[in-house]
Amino acid sequence: MKIVLSDQDFVRQSLELNLFFLRIMKEHAFFIEAAFPCKDSAMIHHAEMLKNQLTMVLSEAVRLADGVLSRNFLAGGEIVTPYTLEAEELTEFYTDVSLNTDITRAELSLVGNDYPHVHSLVDPVAQLNQQAIRVTQSLIDFKVTILNDVLRCRLFTLNYPLLIEHILREARLFVSMLERLQCRTMMDLTSEMIMQEAFWNRIMAEHAKFIRGLLDPTEVQLFNAADQFGHRFDILTAQAEALLHQIADLPAVTEESKQATINIRDFKRQGTEGLITCTIRSIILPLLGDHVLREANHYLRLLNVFQSGRH
Ligand SMILES: [Fe+2]
Repeated sequence: MKIVLSDQDFVRQSLELNLFFLRIMKEHAFFIEAAFPCKDSAMIHHAEMLKNQLTMVLSEAVRLADGVLSRNFLAGGEIVTPYTLEAEELTEFYTDVSLNTDITRAELSLVGNDYPHVHSLVDPVAQLNQQAIRVTQSLIDFKVTILNDVLRCRLFTLNYPLLIEHILREARLFVSMLERLQCRTMMDLTSEMIMQEAFWNRIMAEHAKFIRGLLDPTEVQLFNAADQFGHRFDILTAQAEALLHQIADLPAVTEESKQATINIRDFKRQGTEGLITCTIRSIILPLLGDHVLREANHYLRLLNVFQSGRH
């Protein structure tokens, strides 16, 4: 069943989606850029170019979103967190790769509005969606090339192959959601819940496994906690996938996913704090900590929306 979107919902959902995902995509370009050996200068240059293009589209999204989105959304920690700016500054210091912290400052000062007038924004937002689709598609093509070359041992990167697959899946989800918005349709709530819960439970499991693999071997407690989150979200992923045949379990899976996501959100928040205050031994860039924290905040908002029965 397809539902047609009002102007209000089209503008709000588009801007929320772009603010969350364009920053995620820009940071993927950064993580790709920072993980190549010096000899791969053409790949580094290409990642830098994509990062700059994504930054431009993100800044347009920020400009359009000012005074339009709800206070609740802005306070949810999915477009920026209290750690983002410091995490970026420290990551720039470590890598000497620039991250454009002006955008972060602009995002931190976005003004909320629970009753915006959106009529004049419909066309600019549709154009923004189109630009976001185009640049994200270029990023997808680049990720596919990197993954293929890495799997054939023609290219080396410090990013795990699973991380490249993971960020490729996120980019494809972003594009498919933008395309659906451009058609002004949305999925019915039940199908949306099953799709998103299966997707994000897997993403949360993989975050736990990346963290586990990037901690120093002496960080035994954190390693074990990450390992347990990996197992817990593997089970939740299987349960969410099984909903297609066992729809009666949907409320229970949603609630369990929410509790697990609250727990991993707290774990990621502590981890990000620990990276910024230099109290954790690892090879994790601080921005990666903040990045996965934002994704947990995003998923938590979706789960809350699902439980309230709204879209
Ligand atoms: Fe992720």
